[in-house]
Amino acid sequence: MTALSSDGRAVSFTSRDFRHALGRFASGVTIVTVHHEDHTHGMTANAFVSVSLDPPLVLVSLDNRSNMNRILPGIGRYGVSVLAEDQEPLSNHFAGKPVEGLHAGFTLRDGIPLLEGAVAHFIVAVSEIHPAGDHTLYIGQVEYLSWRDAPPLLFYAGNYQRLRGHKAVQPDEPSLFSMGGFDPKA
Ligand SMILES: Cc1cc2nc3c(=O)[nH]c(=O)nc-3n(C[C@H](O)[C@H](O)[C@H](O)COP(=O)(O)O)c2cc1C
Repeated sequence: MTALSSDGRAVSFTSRDFRHALGRFASGVTIVTVHHEDHTHGMTANAFVSVSLDPPLVLVSLDNRSNMNRILPGIGRYGVSVLAEDQEPLSNHFAGKPVEGLHAGFTLRDGIPLLEGAVAHFIVAVSEIHPAGDHTLYIGQVEYLSWRDAPPLLFYAGNYQRLRGHKAVQPDEPSLFSMGGFDPKA
């Protein structure tokens, strides 16, 4: 495994280097949820990716050691709640660092718990499961979504961040999507 050193030479890289480089890809933060044995299980995940527009597919990548990875195959559907910037404590809470006294409000929709106060919700039916190294990829079709315009929580270089100068964008305002900028056939 090689990386480029500051003087341009190829040098071998460590898993620490790998994490540092990956951390330069800024992401949002989600809580992946399932309803399991009469309770809600939630797990913080930033490895949430859009896969296909038609059909509408997304994926989450789960650590093979996580409880969610053990539970999800038997359930086959999951919720994704994209956190708002004031929901940082919930990210820690569902990442194995329980916050004493924290209230996490969930709404059950079609049997899937979705976190109140999130900026977007998805309900996903798992269609493909791909083992990939020490993680497993769960690709699924989006059955339901909702969103609102509020500042999201960001994750960058191993830390929570805020979106500077967040500007609300209405669905009918021009954007790179609406101008066809991402259409390979345009
Ligand atoms: C910001 C952030 C992002 C994370 N992203 C992921 C992820 O994408 N996939 C994953 O498997 N774990 C991820 N984790 C770690 C899990 O949230 C953590 O291991 C959790 O305790 C697993 O829960 P479970 O074993 O109860 O299902 C992330 C943690 C944080 C704080």
